[in-house]
Amino acid sequence: MSFIPKQFAVIGHPINHSLSPNIHLLFAKEFDFPIGYERVDIDRESLLRRLDEFKEKEYSGLNVTLPLKHDAYLLCQELSKKAQLCESVNTISIKNNQLHGDTTDGIGLIRDLANKGINLNQARCLLVGAGGVANGVMADIIECSPSELYLTNRTIEKSILMESYWKNYAKKHSVLLKVEEIQGENLSYYDVIINATSAGFSSEISPIPDRIINNETYCYDMTYGMETPFMKQALKLNARACDGLGMLIEQAAESFRIWHNLLPQTQNIKKELQLLKLNINI
Ligand code: ATR
Repeated sequence: MSFIPKQFAVIGHPINHSLSPNIHLLFAKEFDFPIGYERVDIDRESLLRRLDEFKEKEYSGLNVTLPLKHDAYLLCQELSKKAQLCESVNTISIKNNQLHGDTTDGIGLIRDLANKGINLNQARCLLVGAGGVANGVMADIIECSPSELYLTNRTIEKSILMESYWKNYAKKHSVLLKVEEIQGENLSYYDVIINATSAGFSSEISPIPDRIINNETYCYDMTYGMETPFMKQALKLNARACDGLGMLIEQAAESFRIWHNLLPQTQNIKKELQLLKLNINI
């Protein structure tokens, strides 16, 4: 009888620049077992039908990226506690014709920060953005117990909604959660600023004013594949800055653990991706 490797895919739109297949194949190489992993372009309208097709074709799991994470949360039959809380799914396990949804984005962010020597415990943090990406990492940020967590966004009303959604979880973890209008005149100081907006794709201007960044601020941009205006600004102001590639690798490692019950090594993955000479800025 021939051995058929388990099949996986990353789904989203657009999807052709996703690094997930490359990362998962490198992880599988570490443990010396074959997997199939492809990119599949799927829009929101066809998600339900396409999920049924993956079940019929006996895929074992899916990674879900923009703009499908909230739709996937709505369509999974079972959800992890974290996926329920964040209303977001980036990892689907398919078992017995059922979709089990989980989210590993928050763990990915926190592990990458830890790899870079950044501990959010008792830190003053600013999270910029109020969309699905920002909400998807809130539970894990709060669980680190920063002393204060400020939320801000171009449309500040969305930060206010976000604050009311997360306030009980923050209180449970003794985190002071507040909305801050950073475009105002106040000079605030933060240990860590996390950019969870999609501004890097659409604008040459950073969504964060210069005056709240100094040489002790750690500036984390969740975008990867480009040096964003926020990263350029941080480096110009002598702050430490990084992109979200490490987070992508760490969230993939946690997805891999969920599917295969094995946690892969991540420290050499960036170098190995560079060796692949992909058409993306790594
Ligand atoms: P995602 O799922 O990527 O979070 P989203 O829900 O559309 O997508 O949210 C995008 C986030 O990026 C929002 O916080 C958005 O701000 P608004 O709520 O004001 O739209 C933010 N964003 C996008 N482009 C931006 C820009 N040029 N400057 C500042 N913020 C921007």
